[in-house]
Amino acid sequence: MNSEITNQLKEKYEAIDQDYETHLEGLLHGKPINYWDYIQTDALLNLQIQRTVFPDEMVFIMYHQINELLFKMILGEIDQIAKESKVSTDVFTSKLMRISRYFDMLTSSFSIMKDGMDVDQYNKFRTTLTPASGFQSAQYRKIEFASTELINLIDKRFRDTIDRNSSYENAFEHLYWQAAGKDYKTGKKSYLLTVFEEKYKDEFIRFTKFYYTNNLWTKFKTLPKESREDKELIKAMRHYDYTVNIKWVMAHYNTANHYLNIGGKTAEATGGSEWVKYMHPKYQKRIFFPELWSEKEIQNWGTNI
Ligand code: HEM
Repeated sequence: MNSEITNQLKEKYEAIDQDYETHLEGLLHGKPINYWDYIQTDALLNLQIQRTVFPDEMVFIMYHQINELLFKMILGEIDQIAKESKVSTDVFTSKLMRISRYFDMLTSSFSIMKDGMDVDQYNKFRTTLTPASGFQSAQYRKIEFASTELINLIDKRFRDTIDRNSSYENAFEHLYWQAAGKDYKTGKKSYLLTVFEEKYKDEFIRFTKFYYTNNLWTKFKTLPKESREDKELIKAMRHYDYTVNIKWVMAHYNTANHYLNIGGKTAEATGGSEWVKYMHPKYQKRIFFPELWSEKEIQNWGTNI
């Protein structure tokens, strides 16, 4: 064996008090790798468990799983930017482009949901899914926390008046998505929201604390002036913002309309929100990078699509 590699291996194992020879012997007995063990195809293809006999339920389950995998890829890229103490413009730009490409894929493929299932089948199998909803996707929420400053995720009605130094707890109670299941007058939360918070709230608060200063928007603001003013980079940032917060949101909203609004009769969603109002970008006004948009663009957010 090449002596340089041998020396490096020795050093590697000595540094962690391991016997180098035993590790070499392990190589002798280890199984050669193959595609199916590496990609875990058997495990992966056994994760699709239907609750009904309708074949299109499989489309629904699998497309959600594909989304979750892409969400994970997006979070992986954001994490790489977040953990660089002094991120360079090149690294920031190339990772942002990757994130953007993943979201482009999520948006352009959404017609798999809108046009890819039989409306009757959907409306039958969905009754077995109440009270669950894609609303409860923790990774989706994490993408938002990791993309922008917390203030931009506060419900529009409270965004200008909320104390920016208030606790995470208070900010959490005023996130835009609380409106899907919280009655602000009584403070009562729906089952959808209650169980979601029971499962993820502590994790979200921990995650948010880290991303408070490490999110994409704050990181962008640490780049040198010429990068922050770079036309191509600004274009890429706006593209990402628009894709997540208007294009994806509208593709999703149109899908909900397609299945749940038949003959002008609006059906209740499995998660139980007042979805017609809640889901539209013109009400939510979620914008990750507000300073990259003009006042007029913000005012018209989601109105002319
Ligand atoms: C036929 C397909 C779909 C329909 C009809 C639909 C419908 C809805 C509705 C009505 C809501 C509002 C909450 C509720 O009351 O349930 C919602 C929320 C949500 N759904 Fe879907 N959805 C579909 C597919 C998907 C897919 C494929 C994903 C990807 C993971 C997804 C992710 C989400 C997310 C993240 C939310 C929360 C959005 C927010 O807070 O603004 N949905 N969905």
